[in-house]
Amino acid sequence: MDRKDFLNSLTGGLAVTCVACMMEACSKDTTTPGSGGSGGNNNPPPGNTVLLTVNLNNQLLSVNDFVAGNGVIVVRTATGNAASSFAAFSSVCPHAGGTVEFRPQSMSFNCPLHNSNFSISGAVTGGPAATGLTKKTVEVSGTTLTVK
Ligand code: FES
Repeated sequence: MDRKDFLNSLTGGLAVTCVACMMEACSKDTTTPGSGGSGGNNNPPPGNTVLLTVNLNNQLLSVNDFVAGNGVIVVRTATGNAASSFAAFSSVCPHAGGTVEFRPQSMSFNCPLHNSNFSISGAVTGGPAATGLTKKTVEVSGTTLTVK
């Protein structure tokens, strides 16, 4: 074997070795657990996050009572502790993000930022807002109410 044949045999051997290394590296990358695949999402499903919890033993006792917090408002609209006795909405005004307030006297919502008004069903009744309030889900279990 002359020098040229010797170098060619080395280069060919290195090439085989490198291809084997690359294939091994690729196979390691695709089998590493927890590397961000579709099963690694820690976010809860939309609409299933508890935004507010209310103890019905001492809150929301009378029609028109309300509790606001964590970006939502829940109002008692009827007697009884069924979920249908309450209405809950995002307190973020759909016009420009002001914080909506409940007005028990008129059983309606108002955004003081530009004076949009909303009915107890969340529909726009006046002001610059073009869409209603975002409805939230109310669930009642015993005397615990949750808004999601
Ligand atoms: S942000 Fe509520 S009316 Fe403009």
